[in-house]
Amino acid sequence: MAARKPKVIVTRKLPDPVETRMRELFNTELNLTDEPLTRAQLADAVARTDVLVPTITDKIDAKLLEAAGPNLKVIANFGAGVDHIDVAAAIAKGITVTNTPGVLTEDTADMTMALIMAVARRIVEGANIVQEGNFQGWTPTWMMGRRVTGKRLGIIGMGRIGQAVARRARAFGLQIHYHNRKPVSSRIAEELEATYWESLDQMLARMDIISVHSPHTPATYHLLSARRLKLMPPHAILINTARGEIIDESALATLLAEGGIAGAGLDVFEFEPRINPKLLKLPNAVLLPHLGSATLEGRIDMGEKVIINIRTWMDGHKPPDRVIPSMM
Ligand code: 8YV
Repeated sequence: MAARKPKVIVTRKLPDPVETRMRELFNTELNLTDEPLTRAQLADAVARTDVLVPTITDKIDAKLLEAAGPNLKVIANFGAGVDHIDVAAAIAKGITVTNTPGVLTEDTADMTMALIMAVARRIVEGANIVQEGNFQGWTPTWMMGRRVTGKRLGIIGMGRIGQAVARRARAFGLQIHYHNRKPVSSRIAEELEATYWESLDQMLARMDIISVHSPHTPATYHLLSARRLKLMPPHAILINTARGEIIDESALATLLAEGGIAGAGLDVFEFEPRINPKLLKLPNAVLLPHLGSATLEGRIDMGEKVIINIRTWMDGHKPPDRVIPSMM
């Protein structure tokens, strides 16, 4: 007799191949409309499922977990960042939390480079001028951006994505600097010719481009505070493809409007999907709707990771992408 398939509730629409495979393997309840679940619907879901597959748009806090039924054993997050999940509260209830690291590294690093280039070379501003029919012809001094080659890139958070950005940035002729909780191995530091800054303040004051790649944790909330943002030189640009909460968005909007730094490329926002209205008016801010991992291949790979995590748990093993509190 076939073993009972675990009940799996998926909170958002996932790519078709992922949903189909999940239906084959598990007793899967899909969200075909893709409407985010309300708090009450989420509470109902955790009360009656074995496995929940949430995304960044679901807040799984300790209060919600009070509604969890005795069967809830795995929260298999569709995404790498787990700052929307109270991992400690889940573990305290015997629930395993997993994520999808690794498979979105290259796509997010690509998007980071796209934002660096877009801000430095004014790509969105230029494209808008053409599209609005306002291109009057070439002139020697019009729409000048800033050269990227030969500049210094300061990476905050030198994990997988930070390192993937560094590899790409070297091909663009950038010098790699980084701030991290601890230095990377000497092998990686040598490969990337990367300079470590223990002091974030000192690094910020010396870089042409800053790019954020740390996870959002209590320790990194507003890491780029109003005071720290002001340490950046006026020609510097700031890129964030990590989490909006790491930057004081209001302080950044004010600084950009006052010309305190030259520009910003943001794929994530502090109060997503709301964006500080001041930012929306700035020509030197390139704003994207959280597209870092938004490739078809990336999203299918993320789904595959979710499936592997659930499947290994089903088979009585420890899922490979368990999130442990020391990672937070
Ligand atoms: C995901 C992300 O698409 O994985 C992450 O941490 O930021 C995104 O690229 C999103 O989180 C899905 O839940």
